[in-house]
Amino acid sequence: MKFFIDTANLKEIDEARSLGMLNGVTTNPSLISKESVYNQKEIYQHYISICKRLKNDENVSAEVISSDYTDMIQEGEKLASLHPKIVVKIPMTKNGVMAIKYFFRKKIKTNCTLIFSTGQALVAAKAGADYVSPFLGRLDDVSYNGLSLIKEIKNIYDNYYFKTKILAASIRSPLHIVECAKIGVYAVTSPINVIYSLLNHPLTNIGLARFIKDFKNKIK
Ligand code: G3P
Repeated sequence: MKFFIDTANLKEIDEARSLGMLNGVTTNPSLISKESVYNQKEIYQHYISICKRLKNDENVSAEVISSDYTDMIQEGEKLASLHPKIVVKIPMTKNGVMAIKYFFRKKIKTNCTLIFSTGQALVAAKAGADYVSPFLGRLDDVSYNGLSLIKEIKNIYDNYYFKTKILAASIRSPLHIVECAKIGVYAVTSPINVIYSLLNHPLTNIGLARFIKDFKNKIK
């Protein structure tokens, strides 16, 4: 199972690397806006800095902010030209699907984002998206079980041997990650705090404190 980190923050990317939990990075316009970048040139430079931290088989999803088809193509081509590790992230809209088709023909990798239904995932796969990003947490927020969407997408992709990879996104809890692993998704993309929650257990902390206390009581 691949672990992507959902951030544009270089320090968090390095932290994930040091934990051995980094197989790629996903960003979105909200995440980019949290960083010290104030114009397009700085944003492009920031993507290049992320790329330079990645190993050969790793990549970073960089999202277009255009909604018009022609603008999406232009923006996506510019993003892809920044570095070979860039995957163009495109929203699930009619223009987005046409753009995915275009990039598929041009052999530019895409990640279709804002996936909230099985039908959307099917369309993205047919258009040739390399990745789909179904948003678990945001579905849970509106009382829909995000994990059941992931299961359905996995089932359909397996039925037809679609090559599109499921990159489970909007991860909010360690349980999301564990359940995604049980379903067998290709990857989760998670914020660093959820990765830390994954490695924590109160009984580990209690057990460790007792070991040290017992040892120090006897060994002077
Ligand atoms: O990058 C897309 C997705 O992971 C966003 O997550 O927590 O803002 O719903 P969240």
